[in-house]
Amino acid sequence: MRVGFYDLLFGRASNLIGEGEFYRDFTAGTGSVLEAACGSGRLFPALGAPGRLLVGFDASVELLQQAQAHYQGNAGLGRPLLCAQRMEDFAFGRRFERIVVGYYGLSYVLEPDGRRSFLQRIADHLTPDGQAVLHLPDADLLRRPVPQAEIDAQRGSLVLTKEASGFSGRLAYQTTENRVVENGSVHITALAFSLLDESGAVLREEEAAMHYAILDRQDIVSLAASVGLRLTDCRRGFVDDIDSELIVTLVHP
Ligand SMILES: C[S@@+](CC[C@H](N)C(=O)[O-])C[C@H]1O[C@@H](n2cnc3c(N)ncnc32)[C@H](O)[C@@H]1O
Repeated sequence: MRVGFYDLLFGRASNLIGEGEFYRDFTAGTGSVLEAACGSGRLFPALGAPGRLLVGFDASVELLQQAQAHYQGNAGLGRPLLCAQRMEDFAFGRRFERIVVGYYGLSYVLEPDGRRSFLQRIADHLTPDGQAVLHLPDADLLRRPVPQAEIDAQRGSLVLTKEASGFSGRLAYQTTENRVVENGSVHITALAFSLLDESGAVLREEEAAMHYAILDRQDIVSLAASVGLRLTDCRRGFVDDIDSELIVTLVHP
């Protein structure tokens, strides 16, 4: 997905209500935070603080450039340090008090060996009393067969204002695919986007397909145990009345 549409569309999704406050609490009082698969730095305002080391990495150089342009000069966030690395084999010469794998990051690692390697690296980079949080989509929701009529109805548009988005117009979206493949282990969501100006003229069109590994709580417990980590908290949303997510906290035993 090109830079821009992602933050505009997903940054306001209703399943993310309470996300910023959750991460602010999670990182409160700490001196070092690592965000894996940080993308465009959407979570940096919640993760950064003056005097705190905030490190983010992502596989997409394009998204990292956007994160850099937005946040690197922001004194309120400390000094976010960014680099291109992959979840499966990331390495830093230090440990962190908090590690955040936000917005479905782990679900993007489709190979079981890659997920195990990623979790091992999280364990290796966490201070002895540190905590890591992983945010995934709810597995049962991903497994649910979605009738075509429901897929067709998953469309809408967001009004964009110059003040909030730097552009006046509309972002229209339509789900084009929503299904489970690979013997029930991978979910595909495909979306088509159009950016329209105030007169309704289409300025840009784009398609994106997200492939998510389907993982439930027990999968995470087993994965964590295989690298010597333990689950201490598990919730289904950042706030109590949301149950579409799986948000787990891991620590060293
Ligand atoms: C849904 S986005 C989440 C971005 C950010 N954490 C947020 O909350 O907005 C998933 C991110 O994972 C990154 N990604 C996907 N596969 C990756 C991999 N193997 N290693 C590192 N980053 C990866 C993508 O580039 C994308 O930025």
